[in-house]
Amino acid sequence: MSVVAFAPAKINLFLHVGAPGDDGYHPLCSLMVFADIGDRVVVQDADVPSFRVHGPFAGPLSGQEDNLVLRAARALLAAIRGPQPPIAISLEKALPVAAGLGGGSSDAGATLRLLRSAMDLPVSDEALEQIAASLGADGAACLWGRPVVAEGRGERPSPAPGLPPIEAVLVNPRVEVSTPAVYRALDAAETFGDVAPPPMPEAFEDVIELAAWLSLMRNDLQAPAVALAPEIGDVLALLAEEPETLLARVSGSGATCFAICGSGLEADALAARVAALRPHWWVRRCGLGGPWPDA
Ligand code: C5P
Repeated sequence: MSVVAFAPAKINLFLHVGAPGDDGYHPLCSLMVFADIGDRVVVQDADVPSFRVHGPFAGPLSGQEDNLVLRAARALLAAIRGPQPPIAISLEKALPVAAGLGGGSSDAGATLRLLRSAMDLPVSDEALEQIAASLGADGAACLWGRPVVAEGRGERPSPAPGLPPIEAVLVNPRVEVSTPAVYRALDAAETFGDVAPPPMPEAFEDVIELAAWLSLMRNDLQAPAVALAPEIGDVLALLAEEPETLLARVSGSGATCFAICGSGLEADALAARVAALRPHWWVRRCGLGGPWPDA
């Protein structure tokens, strides 16, 4: 057996965050979509169980016993009775970590989907969602890689409105941002927004209409993220100046920003220009939507 699952980058097209509850978690409402770029999880038969991380962003994760892929595998196998054959899991880390791209949750989701099907485990979709939710606030929202509107702490996904194909550019200035630190900075500023789901059309006709609507929405973590990592402000300023950008915003708690473009050709041009202007930044052209096939 050698099977592979794709773990797409998650993008928060908007992210509205309210004042924290007694448990310190913040109520939120977010439209989440998934990119056609991401990590990959591979599971193979093995004589002894093993876990390996490789790829351009493996560094910070190597040897981590609490990696979300391992935690997902353990949680799933714990839910099953009887002995399981040893497996080798490898994670190809193509996405920057601590980047607002939901990489850990998406890796965990891909692992759960892959192990269930590869080992033919009798686990329902609902049980898989519960395990995913136990691993992180946006675990359930990232499980299937489908566009969702997430509410609660992020653990209550519901289907998103119909979306057009979205051509985009992702830009990370290569700074890691701690999500709890950004939430703490938001708490200190006390600028909480309304988290009631905004009225949304059933479907957006095209990307122009979507970008215009999104421009009326917010990412409430953007200002605290920029305050903690001013490089994010540089990314947003550069993207906002470029003619191909319909909308530029931080995803999650940053530092990755996305620019929505009017066409694939415009996204190509924007990605090439930003990469040439700032060679040390991580710049990727991608489509946003999902779900994307495993490969
Ligand atoms: O659940 P997860 O580990 O993904 O969350 C990371 C951190 O982000 C939490 O420890 C918490 O500080 C913050 N958080 C929050 N409110 C949310 C989601 C996350 O305060 N709704």
